Amino acid sequence: MSPVAKQLPSSVLVVGAGGREHALVRALLASPAKPRVLCAPGNAGIAQDATCFPVAADDIAGLVALAQREKAEFVVVGPEVPLSLGLVDALTKAGIPAYGPKADGARLEASKVFTKQILLKHGIPTAPAGIFTEVQPALDYLKQRGAPIVIKADGLAAGKGVVVAQTLGEAEVAVRDMLAGNKFGSAGSQILIEDCMFGDETSILVVVSGRDYVILPVSQDHKRIGDGDTGPNTGGMGTYSPAEVVTPELLARIDREIVRPSVDAIAAEGIEFRGTLFIGIMLTASGPSVLEYNTRFGDPETQVVLPRLKTDVLALLWAAARGELRGMSLDVRPDAALCVVLAARGYPDKFPKGDVITFPAQLPPQTTVLHAGTARNPAGQIVTNGGRVLGVTALAPTLREAAARAYAACEQIECASKYYRRDIGARQLNRP
Ligand code: GLY
Repeated sequence: MSPVAKQLPSSVLVVGAGGREHALVRALLASPAKPRVLCAPGNAGIAQDATCFPVAADDIAGLVALAQREKAEFVVVGPEVPLSLGLVDALTKAGIPAYGPKADGARLEASKVFTKQILLKHGIPTAPAGIFTEVQPALDYLKQRGAPIVIKADGLAAGKGVVVAQTLGEAEVAVRDMLAGNKFGSAGSQILIEDCMFGDETSILVVVSGRDYVILPVSQDHKRIGDGDTGPNTGGMGTYSPAEVVTPELLARIDREIVRPSVDAIAAEGIEFRGTLFIGIMLTASGPSVLEYNTRFGDPETQVVLPRLKTDVLALLWAAARGELRGMSLDVRPDAALCVVLAARGYPDKFPKGDVITFPAQLPPQTTVLHAGTARNPAGQIVTNGGRVLGVTALAPTLREAAARAYAACEQIECASKYYRRDIGARQLNRP
């Protein structure tokens, strides 16, 4: 990366408690600047690497006070909720530099309607959609468009607000649940009904600073709970990078038709965006098309993207936060990375907590276990404490070797409620 960002911060607070934050903590600790890394609230695994503080990720005043008390010189915000609650606005007001958009930029994730309006206004490829607050006009629109069709709650719904309805019956249930049944509270009081797109889905994570940006290595997530992409949607059950379906030519097209226009559109709307713009893209037969914007690092995309960077992640995020990204480029390892999420059986619905996890004494080479939903019980043992529990991540010269390493580690980790998909990466590995 050049020019090298001077004067890097000597202490960084990471906000969040999941696998993404564990990956961020590890990447920041690997910086040649050797910063002190703190995390709030963190989890049992993050606490092995960084000092954790029991301040919730949505406690804006508490996080600002923590950053001041611990003299954090930089704050990196993981999840979308604190961003949309204005954590970066509050930190900026307190004079503490932070990575992540302010609340106006976070609205690109917090309101799907807002994003759809921007995409359509600026001619960025996306599916046609209708916006509704009343049941009957929504049902009329459904009949007009037919199935399959996508129903999206406008607001944040912890990844559960999108229904891909295969039949008009399913679509009607989703519309009624959201608009009349209050299923997602105010997040579902306005909905989008969007044409269904078909193709490979890909995650494009872009570090943005105003009109400047760098595109991180491309990855693919596995959103469904079951092998072969079956069952309900989850936050993500595994990822790999690079995603070879995105050839250099296709990436150049995505940059030209989607990334550059998106960054320019956001700036033209008066938003000074400094953070990660995570663009979910469907590679349709007629070209790449935007599914959604997220305004943070993906989880578990981050777990495979950051380990592939030789670039100092601290310098990269610091430069973006300070508006000094121009002229920077990335140094990427040629190795493939693959992450298998170990979940608690029953996720994404009901799942147990408190099951003891036993880790092998030795992991395969270049394999690491990132913690997501873990805690310590009164006996000091590491136990499950969430739906997605661990992210087992391996690097290797090929994706096949990375998968073999990650899966060997998954088998060695013991936990009564352990569940994981057996086909992470298969789409690419089985491609003729
Ligand atoms: N893995 C999808 C997301 O972070 O939203």
